[in-house]
Amino acid sequence: MENVTTRRCKGQQTEPANIVIFGAAGDLTKRKLIPALIKMLRCGLLHQDSKIIGVLKGRTSEVWLNALRQGIADYSPDIKMDDQQWQEFSARFKMVDGDLQEEKTYQDLATSLESLNGRTHAMFYCAVPPSWYTIIAEGLHKAGLADETEGFRRVVIEKPFGMDLKSAQQLNQELQALLNESQIYRIDHYLGKESVQNLLVYRFANSILEPLWNRNFIDHIQISAAESIGIEYRANYYEKSGALRDMIQSHLMQVMTLVAMEPPVEFTADAVRDEKIKVLRAVRHLEPENIKRQTVAAQYGSGKINEESIKAYVSENGVSPDSVTETFAAVRFQIDNWRWQGVPFILWTGKRLPKRVSEIMIRFRNPPFNLFDTHANPPLANSLVFRVHPDEGIALRMNAKKPGLTTDSQRMVMRAPYSENGEDVSEAYEVLLHDVLIGDATLFSRADEVEQSWAILEPILKAWEDRISVERYRSGTWDISGMDTLFEDCVGGWHKPS
Ligand code: BG6
Repeated sequence: MENVTTRRCKGQQTEPANIVIFGAAGDLTKRKLIPALIKMLRCGLLHQDSKIIGVLKGRTSEVWLNALRQGIADYSPDIKMDDQQWQEFSARFKMVDGDLQEEKTYQDLATSLESLNGRTHAMFYCAVPPSWYTIIAEGLHKAGLADETEGFRRVVIEKPFGMDLKSAQQLNQELQALLNESQIYRIDHYLGKESVQNLLVYRFANSILEPLWNRNFIDHIQISAAESIGIEYRANYYEKSGALRDMIQSHLMQVMTLVAMEPPVEFTADAVRDEKIKVLRAVRHLEPENIKRQTVAAQYGSGKINEESIKAYVSENGVSPDSVTETFAAVRFQIDNWRWQGVPFILWTGKRLPKRVSEIMIRFRNPPFNLFDTHANPPLANSLVFRVHPDEGIALRMNAKKPGLTTDSQRMVMRAPYSENGEDVSEAYEVLLHDVLIGDATLFSRADEVEQSWAILEPILKAWEDRISVERYRSGTWDISGMDTLFEDCVGGWHKPS
């Protein structure tokens, strides 16, 4: 049987491939994709003979390459590259100048790929807004570039995959008419994060957790992603999206499936995804009358973070002054199956919160009888925290005796940070790009998963669609109205990450 470690070791076996990036002048390319490719090349995860082909319009190759180099300096200062190293790296680049809507662009791309002798495998990365996904797939199909006779042809689709159930179904149908499902890689970068993958290893490589991992011992589970950044330059996208679509539908619900799923029969893409979809199918759809009690939506107002004055969401460039888009969202899910009946899974995320912390917290039940309750500090419920960032690692919170002539307890935290492993923590995009190259789709969402997660959110989207106002919170605070009520019956209440 394969495991995560052997899967990653296949890094040594990637074959030379053409990596084609649509949207090669965009932000994702310079912030994430190029730095990931450089690191992959340096640590042997990308074959030295691979080429990177950027498809873009109206720029010279020189201007494009300079912008990429500047992007590395701005966003990835850990990558040190002198002129000589940059020359060597950029010698791998090719540019195809063209409009994504024109057939000629894909023919030029095909000619360009043909000229790269011996490299018949290709990964096509759609780092473009969603309205382009089908257009690109059509272009590739018509130019014969989706044909896998001579090598693999894999297409990576970024999020958001649809804006609701209907649009996600339509996109799936359109793509599947042009490509085989096995060629479509729906990327969710959260699944490439080390701690998220470690969750699987912790769960299924340790025998002590399994007996505890259920409704008999766990009170509730919180899966959170707090951010201190605002919406940056993305008002256009965010105004239509909001926090529920942006973070909960994709990243946090995917993480929920990994926390809740049954052990797969083997560690292969379909076996893992078969278990994940079972979780999504068991998630109870909220009834309209419960939506107010089981969800929270709020929007950041002005405030301060680290002494810096922050403007309100409605004052951001490109945001309508009467916008009711939520920048904070929380949903309390129930999973109707034997393992999880009655255990709330509370997913929450927000922008302009005091700090950037993302974690999965498993809160256990209180001890059935509290022997030490007569003393000043009664023991607190145990919790196991998987820290996604910062400080990736795991912490187990327990109670211990205070030193001295007392039986009072105090909190003790057992930490296992990754940094102590002596190995670099891989960035999500390195892991995921490498997985596309080796054809491992385990960490990518299948069509049915995406549709099911939208189906679960449909009632909430409908209820929120017609709202005419939204609660506000002060930037840089945890003062979100409704959160304490959402956790009212949960042991320990709302856990604001420290
Ligand atoms: C993206 C969202 O998918 O994930 C952003 O669109 C969010 O709004 C980002 O900021 C968070 O990812 P990370 O890896 O920085 O936690």
